[in-house]
Amino acid sequence: MKILGINALNHDACITLLDGKEILFAGHAERYSGIKNDHLLTQEMISDAKRYGKWDKVVWFEKPWLKKSRQLWAGQYGEVFQSENLPSQYLKQFGIDKIDHYVGHHESHAAASYYSSPYDEACIITIDAIGEWETLTIWYAWGSHFEKRHSVSYPNSLGLWYSAMTQRLGLKPQEDEYILMGMAGWGKLDRNIMNELYEDFFVGISNISCACSSNTLGANGLNFCLFLISFIWSFIFFPRGSPNKLRLPNALGPNSALPFATPTILPLSSSLLT
Ligand SMILES: [Fe+2]
Repeated sequence: MKILGINALNHDACITLLDGKEILFAGHAERYSGIKNDHLLTQEMISDAKRYGKWDKVVWFEKPWLKKSRQLWAGQYGEVFQSENLPSQYLKQFGIDKIDHYVGHHESHAAASYYSSPYDEACIITIDAIGEWETLTIWYAWGSHFEKRHSVSYPNSLGLWYSAMTQRLGLKPQEDEYILMGMAGWGKLDRNIMNELYEDFFVGISNISCACSSNTLGANGLNFCLFLISFIWSFIFFPRGSPNKLRLPNALGPNSALPFATPTILPLSSSLLT
């Protein structure tokens, strides 16, 4: 069965045509248009995919109505009350009249990493600025099964915080995060800058809490964030040691919420929402 997977109207529009496990065609919009991070598909790209035969199903990378519910909650009324950003409407101009399946945003990320990995059983962590509502998910996958074990939802977002920090440092958010990541490896701790950032982002937050660590970490927001990053990072590397013997720790059960309270970041990061 041939499946056309589509990501668009977000950033870096792209399509992939799969036949079973084989990728027949993959295209990235910016390569066609010359516009960096282009969020729109091109007719040429769709035509190139068609050269590999007719597809049986079309799959969209996220759930648009769920996304609109979050946009409504976030006050992005311009996005909510327009129909052109509905994928079913948008794709008609390319001769695609029907979307057969909508996959959750984070499930799409998880599947992309899992199916392109060498593992047939894995713990998967996705950390994004935002999906529909979710900003971080942890999955247990085996064979073709995905079981979501944990998730964090907007407005709590490690990714949005990363983008906000990217913007705060004078870089372009949603694009230059990789530069910040590269620079971090060369940087030295400057307490003056750290204090300035702390003042910008965390002053007024006296109630940052973590179900598992609030007593030991206290209310120091920056320490909390560093702790959270370290915690998550340790799980990113977790599967590499023993890919065939993975079991999620009990601590990642449904009740182990990791609240990531960042209310003062929101005014800055709300402009980063898609
Ligand atoms: Fe994403």
